[in-house]
Amino acid sequence: MPLTEKVRRTLRRRRSHRAVSGLKSQWSAYPAKWRKHEYLNLGSETLGEEWGGPEFASLIVDELVADYLTPDTDVVELGCGGGKFSQRIAPRVKSLTCCDISPQMIDQTKRELADRGVDENVSFEVLNGIDFTGLESNSADFIFSYDVQLHLQPQNVFSYLVDAVRVLRPGGVFMLHQIKLDSPGGMDHFLSQYYAHTWDFAFDSSERLGHVYFMSEGQMRALATAAGMKTLDVIDDFPGRDSRYYNVTRDRDLFGFFEAGRSRLTGKQRVVKAEGDETVWAVLDGGERVAIRSSQQFERAGFAWDDLQAVSAEELATIPESASPLEHWE
Ligand SMILES: C[S@@+](CC[C@H](N)C(=O)[O-])C[C@H]1O[C@@H](n2cnc3c(N)ncnc32)[C@H](O)[C@@H]1O
Repeated sequence: MPLTEKVRRTLRRRRSHRAVSGLKSQWSAYPAKWRKHEYLNLGSETLGEEWGGPEFASLIVDELVADYLTPDTDVVELGCGGGKFSQRIAPRVKSLTCCDISPQMIDQTKRELADRGVDENVSFEVLNGIDFTGLESNSADFIFSYDVQLHLQPQNVFSYLVDAVRVLRPGGVFMLHQIKLDSPGGMDHFLSQYYAHTWDFAFDSSERLGHVYFMSEGQMRALATAAGMKTLDVIDDFPGRDSRYYNVTRDRDLFGFFEAGRSRLTGKQRVVKAEGDETVWAVLDGGERVAIRSSQQFERAGFAWDDLQAVSAEELATIPESASPLEHWE
């Protein structure tokens, strides 16, 4: 069974525990409250500017991700919220699909972009909170998200990563933004939520809104690899100590850029193991064999253990070994 389907089934089975639907109800209540209360909107024009301000949003688009935003790229934004980034991204790209778990947030972004006249190339999708169901396979070049996946449990981040491989075109890139605990801004955030007990409220409690799960670079890379993605870059010092925007995040942001690799393993090839040897080999479509690195890699590719064939050392030696070993992410 392909990994995407496996992850979806697992998460569906656990749905009664309501972590994902809790995110939906908490965030869906936010736009109406934001419009009403100044202590939430802080006088901002666009919902979301109260988190970091409009100039910091521009900095991210202009300096961190500008290379991924060209007139030829189809971009998906995960967790668009009130459209703070959408309005900056849409004019630069061929198309933008604004996605969010909350219909109310999607409505807010729709109005915001229409008011600004930057909605011509924009479509909208309310997501199930688990993956990109509703978006076509092989349809995007870049998946952007900021201030979204840090609110999801690592398993929920993983469910999006796995499905990103389906949605992205070959060479397409997934951006994962998280907060690292070992930074001045990260630890402040951690302690403020520790004392506010956000972690101890029920998943659908409004007191839990904005609760953050922290992630390190190693954890980020491990999740992406397990989802079958290549790590292109991890940036942990944006915007930098000398930037006038340093105090917005105080070094807490961590950005991973992952490419949807196309593995040479299809799950349908012959898999063999010589008697008395632990190495499991896949015979690639060109006839060469490659060593499979782990049981996760074997299963992720869709191979079944029942299909593993025992061969003699002599027979194995007749199959040439590929000069390019499998990458971890394949
Ligand atoms: C803090 S807001 C950030 C919004 C926007 N990216 C910004 O920076 O202004 C988090 C957004 O993520 C959305 N969200 C939360 N959980 C989600 C999930 N599982 N799938 C998709 N969107 C989700 C929320 O509805 C909300 O719009």
